[in-house]
Amino acid sequence: MEPEKEGRIVRYLDERIRLKALMSFLLNEPMPGGARWAYVFGSMVMFSLILQFLTGMMLAFYYGGTPDHAWDSVNYIDHLTYENIPVGRMIRGLHYWGASIMVILVGLHLLQVFLWGAYKRPREIMWLVGVLLLAMTMVAAFTGYLLPWDERAYWGTIVGTNMIGLIPIVGPVIKSAIRGGVGLGALTLSHFFTIHTMVLPTLFILFVGLHMVIFRRVGPAGPFGGDPLTLESQKEFFYPRQVLMDSLGMFGVFLLIAMLAIMVPPGLEAMANPSNGAYNPVPAWYFDWIFQLLKVIRPEILGVVGLPALIGMILIFLPFADRNPERSPLRRPFSVLATLFVLASMIVLSILAEKGYKKLVPLDRDAMARGKVVFDHSGCLGCHRLQDRGGRMGPDLSEEGLIGHPQHWLVTQFVNSKTNFPNSPMPNFTFLKPDQLHDLAQYVSSLGRAGWPDPTKEGNGEK
Ligand code: HEC
Repeated sequence: MEPEKEGRIVRYLDERIRLKALMSFLLNEPMPGGARWAYVFGSMVMFSLILQFLTGMMLAFYYGGTPDHAWDSVNYIDHLTYENIPVGRMIRGLHYWGASIMVILVGLHLLQVFLWGAYKRPREIMWLVGVLLLAMTMVAAFTGYLLPWDERAYWGTIVGTNMIGLIPIVGPVIKSAIRGGVGLGALTLSHFFTIHTMVLPTLFILFVGLHMVIFRRVGPAGPFGGDPLTLESQKEFFYPRQVLMDSLGMFGVFLLIAMLAIMVPPGLEAMANPSNGAYNPVPAWYFDWIFQLLKVIRPEILGVVGLPALIGMILIFLPFADRNPERSPLRRPFSVLATLFVLASMIVLSILAEKGYKKLVPLDRDAMARGKVVFDHSGCLGCHRLQDRGGRMGPDLSEEGLIGHPQHWLVTQFVNSKTNFPNSPMPNFTFLKPDQLHDLAQYVSSLGRAGWPDPTKEGNGEK
């Protein structure tokens, strides 16, 4: 550009902060092989993170992080309107759906880097910082889940922190440290609020910065395969085509989040009630697959502690263990097939979770305890197994509550099992009164469900 044509502002800033050199450093990043749609994921994650920062700050203006105020303040936000526009609910919706979409985008970004083999030498450290950012995203989602202080938040966090408590040796200490005591209370909420709004944002700025600095040091991995000379000749700068693609990608992310925020507002359940033992805790949908998997892995500790540890180890050691410089997914059939298998399993497990335990019947602790008495006096154990006792003629009922049979189906099974199974040998328990049948169904529905230990066994009642 000729100096006369430059705006005065540009000239002023260039003289004082060397604006042109800065812009050229930011925009003229060489992209081997040219701009591509495949590269938009990083920018989309970055955009969703910035959106979380902005909407989070707005929410913090109104949020009160104590058990007496948290629920009321979120409820207030939900009803906050400006010129009849429900701005409060919209901002909260953006933050809520922004979190879900960010988890998906981080997953897609990781998947793309993996399939492209872009984690390989010399990008191992950049990958490690990325894994750390993934973990931070999960912690952000987990700590944010508690903040509305409704039933969903409270019981979800009870289950989540109980899982942390299962880690050998250090688990119980970590659990009571983050809870700030035995149960969930004011300290838990202020711990989570501080982690969510002060610790994590600071770490995010630091580590996203580090991720970007390393990125500019080693440069983009570029397309796999291809002759280095042709790639060199196809070299393009970040500006303008990649900037345009990234911007369109980010705009698409915003449209999606905004649409979800308006069409499916997050909602607020009743205020957390620690004595409501009938609540059926469910995790956020992106943890569904883990919870479903945990139901089949026994002993429990293997799934709850072993599985995440295994996933973490694989992610951390991947770039060091995989020394093969080959990057093309076509020539890495094992990696690609393993990825497809993991993805397919995650989808199937999530569907099972949504159709299974997420639809479970709400339980009433007293009815359940009465139902247990009926169960013990009706000879059910003659044919059914429960944990390590009972007969083998009928199916094992230890995890019957996880199947999600509706109450009426169970009552039918008790009084007229041939309706459900034409050749059923199970007797008709017609001598049981309607309320006994109800209680028995409640008890059977509780079997194997997290947070529903045998009410008569001592020591299990602790949540
Ligand atoms: C004579 C043996 C016998 C007795 C006693 C018995 N059951 Fe069953 N039960 C079965 C058999 C066999 C099945 C397999 C399905 C069928 O044929 O009805 C079954 C199925 C069930 C199922 C459905 C399992 C499923 O998800 O498909 C439930 C629930 C159940 N029984 C509960 C009870 C309860 C509660 C009692 C005690 C009140 C009881 N059963 C007593 C034999 C028995």
